[in-house]
Amino acid sequence: MILEINGLTKNFGGLTAVSGIDIKVNDGEVLGLIGPNGAGKSTFFNLITGVIPPTKGKIIFKGKDITGKRPHEIAELGIGRTFQLNPLFPNFTVLQNVISSFQIRPRSNWLDTFFNTPVYRKNEAYILEQSLEILNLVGLYKVKDELAKNQPHGYQKMLGVARALAIKPSLLLLDEPIAGMNPDEIDNTIEAIKRTSQRGVTIILVEHNMKILEICNRVVVINFGQKIVEGSPQEIKENPEVIRAYLGSGHDTKH
Ligand SMILES: Nc1ncnc2c1ncn2[C@@H]1O[C@H](COP(=O)(O)OP(=O)(O)OP(=O)(O)O)[C@@H](O)[C@H]1O
Ligand SMILES: [Mg+2]
Repeated sequence: MILEINGLTKNFGGLTAVSGIDIKVNDGEVLGLIGPNGAGKSTFFNLITGVIPPTKGKIIFKGKDITGKRPHEIAELGIGRTFQLNPLFPNFTVLQNVISSFQIRPRSNWLDTFFNTPVYRKNEAYILEQSLEILNLVGLYKVKDELAKNQPHGYQKMLGVARALAIKPSLLLLDEPIAGMNPDEIDNTIEAIKRTSQRGVTIILVEHNMKILEICNRVVVINFGQKIVEGSPQEIKENPEVIRAYLGSGHDTKH
């Protein structure tokens, strides 16, 4: 097991956004997290990644209690994430965007940088090689030298994934990876997520689009901050409680 969450709770004033959630995530799986708008999905990611502290509960990552740690500490331990809205450097190229994400994990110190030592140059070469490999993995190699801001929506979202991969995560959290994409972009993204998973990265993804269920090993449904059901994608699609709470509320159940 890579991640174990016990009784995770977050109150914002009088509102309980996440309420006593228990989740175990197995090493190597793709876990889907679904639920209506405002169910607490993004808050759940923000808690795991240390963006906000929990009101109650424990987060154990690879056997280590990471509850209350800072975002950079959690990133260094190997949890990467994308954001629902993708912050990137619009005037950097696609490649520069990925390279810049490597700075979270420095391998040379400032003296090496200052004197442009062999360690530093070797590090630069390493980062370039790794960045190109990541761009290849997510299918953005062909646009590596183009400006991020000129990329279509789907590419910009994949660039968010590429940047998250730069910290070499063993656990990757994707917040609505295919939202707003056209069908081709969705297919490409699903393939890229599959390739990432095949590299041994454990993935938790939040999504409204039911098409994503095809790549999930397991799905957890949350509503009003609580876990209501978990099971295989098939079980989830057929569960009456899920249909009532989520799928029935104007969302497309046909996928
Ligand atoms: N920083 C905050 N301060 C106060 N309330 C917040 C904060 N962040 C989230 N909330 C509230 O917590 C609840 C859960 O929000 P959250 O963004 O986690 O939902 P979500 O499941 O990601 O929804 P969506 O599908 O629309 O992205 C909502 O009622 C939201 O308004
Ligand atoms: Mg959200």
